[in-house]
Amino acid sequence: MNDPRTNPSTPKPAGAPAGESVWSAAERELGITQGGPRNIGWLCSDRVCQLGRGSHLALVWEGIQGQTRRYTYDDLRRCTNTIAAFLQGCSVVPGDRVCLFLDKVPELYMGVLGVLKLGAIAQPLFSAFGDESLLTRLQSSEATAILTQRKHLGKVRKILAQTPWLKHVIVVDAGAAPLQQREIGFDLEAAEKVENFDAHPVTAETPSLLHYTSGTTGQPKGAQHVHGSIVAQYATTRQVLDLKPDDVYWCTADPGWVTGTSYGIIGPWSVGVCQVVMEAGFNTEAWYQFLQRHRVTVWYSAPTAIRLLMREGGDVVKRHDLRSLRHLCSVGEPLNAEAVVWSQKTYGLPFLDTYWQTETGCIVITNLPGMPIKPGSMGKPFPGIEATIVDLKTHQPIGKTGVVGLIALKPGWPSMMRTYWRNPEVYAGKFKNGWYICGDRASIDADGYYWFVGRDDDVINTAGHLVGPFEIESALLEHPAVAESAAVATPDPVNMEVVKAFVALKPGFQGDPDLELEIMNFIRKRLSPLAMPQKIEFTQALPKTRSGKIMRRMLRAKEFNEPLGDLSTLEND
Ligand code: PRX
Repeated sequence: MNDPRTNPSTPKPAGAPAGESVWSAAERELGITQGGPRNIGWLCSDRVCQLGRGSHLALVWEGIQGQTRRYTYDDLRRCTNTIAAFLQGCSVVPGDRVCLFLDKVPELYMGVLGVLKLGAIAQPLFSAFGDESLLTRLQSSEATAILTQRKHLGKVRKILAQTPWLKHVIVVDAGAAPLQQREIGFDLEAAEKVENFDAHPVTAETPSLLHYTSGTTGQPKGAQHVHGSIVAQYATTRQVLDLKPDDVYWCTADPGWVTGTSYGIIGPWSVGVCQVVMEAGFNTEAWYQFLQRHRVTVWYSAPTAIRLLMREGGDVVKRHDLRSLRHLCSVGEPLNAEAVVWSQKTYGLPFLDTYWQTETGCIVITNLPGMPIKPGSMGKPFPGIEATIVDLKTHQPIGKTGVVGLIALKPGWPSMMRTYWRNPEVYAGKFKNGWYICGDRASIDADGYYWFVGRDDDVINTAGHLVGPFEIESALLEHPAVAESAAVATPDPVNMEVVKAFVALKPGFQGDPDLELEIMNFIRKRLSPLAMPQKIEFTQALPKTRSGKIMRRMLRAKEFNEPLGDLSTLEND
């Protein structure tokens, strides 16, 4: 069997010191020196230009109206300078949080780098979030500025009274639209470009990004990353995604989520590739046309999309010329063995599964190019990552193959989150016996391959997006008819899981289809289409423990037809 640590597609360059770690090699390749520049914004734009690749395409963007915008690395350098200077003019200072509440438009991708150049902290948020999801996350970060579009202004205006610290609402497509207090227009295309901007001198530990992620309890937590993360994102982009400077790369993820920043901004632009972005969402025909039109070579997507493509079958594939594709990867949910076999048969290439989290910042367990694949397995720890499986209760490494436990990682890799924003207790709770506990169950086989089993908490993974039950239940309680509720996952053939809500009504309310629809829409508007329950079951009472905690696990087990487990603490049933 091939040793994944000697990835054949990325040979060690001549002159690399013997025994050099994967992280040191990445630092050397990125030209990072002690005290030298290491600002992510600078490394992903100015540095690529300094290497003589300023005229190489950095971004080809296709909008929903069919319009195309192209940017070279020189454009990327100037545009990100311009955004950084504009923010500086708005008195945004290093360390401030700047929220990006934008669709997949160029201003989002460049905005993240502009914020980083200034030394501020970028907080990207999925633009489909409703006003309540937006508010919770802004209340946590206390961002001083938000970049948004006209179409999302309604949601932003709704929360302004509750966010006095938010001084600037920057509208990137304001045109001649009337703006209100605290709102200011910024047109990237029309703006006079700033040729030189001194990127804020950062250290490896300077905060860079805040990505909000859901747990079982409490509101979403902001995983705080640092500029030093680029070392891990660069190394994994090179070795797992196998990106080389002349690739044309498509990451289908939205930068509102971590895949869209680690591997939709930082990874590809630190390598200097041309990346292509499609603003519109999933559509089989449009996706294949996009791959064909741009001659995409490397494609990073997710199991839900792959399942949708599988459903459409192979005929539509034959109508397109996809010969440019040379490498496919997947992330976010379990990639079933069937999908790997199907993609090998249909595209002549398997999708390689990669595993990681918002908190890890980079791919940590993965299939590497050239490594034998076991369909259904997530692969092995990335070189430089020390992983194991620990016991579910004692959190001690199990040391045996085939036994299910929790995935655990030895802290210290460059892109590990440094804290949960203003929530150090929850952060500390993630570590046991010197290991970072990922919160996923898996086992290791005799060859060292990891096999995913499921999450160890009540978080719902719908189409690769984590949704916390607490946030949904809190929003449900705001509906006048709802007395009590529980949000759990229910199986779905395409999205793997969707949200199902169990609802006990207040006296005088009737659980009928009209109310069901009303509650669904209530959640969709306040939180997001992802958090919207696809099913609501009205019930008299919810199963609770003797101490009064709702037993979501039992409701979930019923949905999945799984054994109910220990019910001895159950109060009523
Ligand atoms: O449960 C695992 C699942 O997604 C979680 C991380 O979600 P998030 O922080 O939103 O980041 C998503 C993209 C990195 C994990 O704890 N997950 C991620 N990748 C896989 C996966 N489950 C199974 N197989 C994977 N390859």
